[in-house]
Amino acid sequence: MGRKFFVGGNWKCNGTAEEVKKIVSTLNAGEVPSEDVVEVVVSPPFVFLGLVKGLLKPDFHIAAQNCWVKKGGAFTGEVSAEMLINLGIPWVILGHSERRLILNESNDFVGDKVAYALSQGLKVIACVGETLEQRESGSTMDVVAAQTKAIAERISNWENVVLAYEPVWAIGTGKVASPAQAQEVHFELRKWLQVNTSPEVAATTRIIYGGSVSGANCKELAAQPDVDGFLVGGASLKPEFIDIIKSAEVKKSM
Ligand code: PGA
Repeated sequence: MGRKFFVGGNWKCNGTAEEVKKIVSTLNAGEVPSEDVVEVVVSPPFVFLGLVKGLLKPDFHIAAQNCWVKKGGAFTGEVSAEMLINLGIPWVILGHSERRLILNESNDFVGDKVAYALSQGLKVIACVGETLEQRESGSTMDVVAAQTKAIAERISNWENVVLAYEPVWAIGTGKVASPAQAQEVHFELRKWLQVNTSPEVAATTRIIYGGSVSGANCKELAAQPDVDGFLVGGASLKPEFIDIIKSAEVKKSM
């Protein structure tokens, strides 16, 4: 009942068509562990989903970076879960801190999005994480528990959910959480799931770390028992993403 290592690449709002093609060809050429060792999911901006889907090798999968909270309709500028399913996009990232903080997405709104996306058949990378201020005031666990609770009270099946712990102070800052800091929160989140969902959900749900993950720090983080993979921003646009995928081997040899 092992948790398969998961590496997500969040390209955020970056890239031209030419750059996207280059990233995909680097990914396709990379020598990485097989699909039964690591699940790789890259997340291009919406406008490049079709391009990437047409070019990416089939052992890698694709996630959208967001979707609308309910059925599509008169919601200018939004993209619905139904549309992603229609295009054959299996995954979506929801609750990223950039959306929570810059676009004011509340815990409840993110919880509603997760529940709706799952109900339509999407798999969800659900992000949680505290700001520096919250960490320094000692409320890290309260914050991530509240974010997780808003999801847990709306869903019963966690099979298609990957939980991404992404401390806001580590995102895009080059200031990575130490392996001990990551492990501590992942352990607490798993304990939270055990108490508030079920021991089975706690044992099987992958909890991945995000925030300045790089080729240089991934192995040490991957060796932590409750770190089941990564959500990678900046480094997912670079060839070192291949090294990060390879850190799945650390788990295999444990
Ligand atoms: P970063 O971003 O790797 O550039 O810190 C991670 C994320 O936001 O998912």
